[in-house]
Amino acid sequence: MNTPTVPRAQADTGTADNWVARRSAATTGMYDRAVQAGLTGHTVTGRQGKTLTLDDGSRCVEFVSCSYLGLEDHPRMVHAVRTAVDAYGIHLSSSRNSMQPAEAVELEELLGQIYPGLHALVFNSVSSVHLGLLPLLGANVLPSYPVSPAGPLYVVERTAHASMQVLRGVLEQLGPVTRFTIQDPESLAAAMGAARASGRTPVILVDGIGSMGGLIDVARLQETAERHGGYVYIDDAHGTSIDGPRGAGYAHVALGGQVPANTLLVGSLSKAFGGSGGFVLTHAESDLHALRREGNTMVFGHSNMVTHMAANAESARMHLDGTVAALQADLWAATALFDELLAGANLVNSGTRSPIRGLALESEEAAFATAVRLREAGVLCFPVFYPIVAQGTGLLRFALSSTHTPAQIKELAALLGAV
Ligand SMILES: Cc1ncc(COP(=O)(O)O)c(C=O)c1O
Repeated sequence: MNTPTVPRAQADTGTADNWVARRSAATTGMYDRAVQAGLTGHTVTGRQGKTLTLDDGSRCVEFVSCSYLGLEDHPRMVHAVRTAVDAYGIHLSSSRNSMQPAEAVELEELLGQIYPGLHALVFNSVSSVHLGLLPLLGANVLPSYPVSPAGPLYVVERTAHASMQVLRGVLEQLGPVTRFTIQDPESLAAAMGAARASGRTPVILVDGIGSMGGLIDVARLQETAERHGGYVYIDDAHGTSIDGPRGAGYAHVALGGQVPANTLLVGSLSKAFGGSGGFVLTHAESDLHALRREGNTMVFGHSNMVTHMAANAESARMHLDGTVAALQADLWAATALFDELLAGANLVNSGTRSPIRGLALESEEAAFATAVRLREAGVLCFPVFYPIVAQGTGLLRFALSSTHTPAQIKELAALLGAV
C-alpha cells in the first residue's frame, strides 16, 4: 500500500483544551512508516487458515486477527450466511426499530441462553453500544439502573478502550467525567469520594481484557461500585467467547459466572465470536425497551447486515452446543505452548488467560526494526505506537488463535527468542 504522508495537527492548533489536536501533534510518523514498510495496513487477497496472501503475492502467517477461535470461516458459519443471502439478499437497509430479519430475534434469544437470566440487545458495533447506552444511563432512562437526582459521575479507567474515552465530551453533557488508574487504588478511591461528596452515582467504565495489555480485575471494581451505590460498565470485547463453558467470556467468568445487578456487560460479536456487531446484557426487558426506543445508534443508525446476523446466530448455536468450548481448549493450548517456549522472555500477558501477547520495546525504532525482521521471516504482527501506547515506546502485539498450528507458534517463538 502506498500511503501519502498526511500532515498531523501542529502543536499550536486550536485551544489548549483541544485534546485531539494535542494528540495529533504528539503523534510521530511511525504509523505511516510502518505502512510504507509493509508492516501493517496490509491488503489481503486470499487466506488459508492463518496464512494470508497479500497483494504483492507474498504469503505470511498472521498473528493480527482478533478472531481468537477461528470461527469466521467455519463451514457452519459460511453455510448460514449463504442460506440467509438466498432468503433475503444482503441487507435490510433500515434502522433495527423499523424491521429486522428473524435471525436478529433468534440471536438475541440465543444470547439470553448463553447468559441465563439476562436480556441481550444487539447493535452493529461495540462503539454503537457505548454511544447508544451510556447517555441513556446518565439520563436515568434505564429502569434497572437508576441514578441519583444529582446525576452520574462517569469514572473511566485510563486504559479503557478508545471507543469509550472518545465519548468524554458527550458524557460530560450528562455529568462530570473523571479518570482513574487500575494500578492506583487511591485514584479510584478519590473518584468514589468525589461521587459521595457530590451525591452523584458513580459509573465505572472499564475493559474486561485490555486490547493492548492485561486483564482487569472486574470483580473488585464491581464490589467497589456496589459499596458506593454505583455501576460498573464492562467492555469485554476481547473476552467474549474465549472463556466459560458456553463462551460467556472472560468478565462473566471473573464475576463468578453471573452478572450482578449493578453491572452492565458488553460483548463483541466481531472478535472471537466470529461474526460482526456488539451487544449489551441488561437485567430486565424494560431496559431493552428503552434502548430500542431511545438509544441513538439504535434509532438513528442502520441495522447489522442480514449476513452478519445469520453468522452471529449460527455462532451463538455453536456456543450452546459445545463447539466453542472445544475451540477454547485449542486456543489455551496455543497460548500455553507460546508461553512455555518463551518462558522468562517477559512478554506482556505471559501466562494469563488472554489470547493477546505483546512485546514491549523501549523505543519506537526498536519496535519498528523487530517488526521488519518478523515481516522478512514471513510473520505479521500488529506494531503499535503512540497514541495507542506511551509516547516514545513501541509494542508488537500478537493475537493467538485456536487455529494457529504448533509449527506456526514455534516459528514465532524462535524469532522472538532471537530478539
Ligand atoms: C475493547 C474494545 N472495545 C470496543 C472496540 C470497538 O469495537 P467495534 O468496532 O465493534 O465498535 C474494540 C475494537 O477493537 C475493542 O478492542
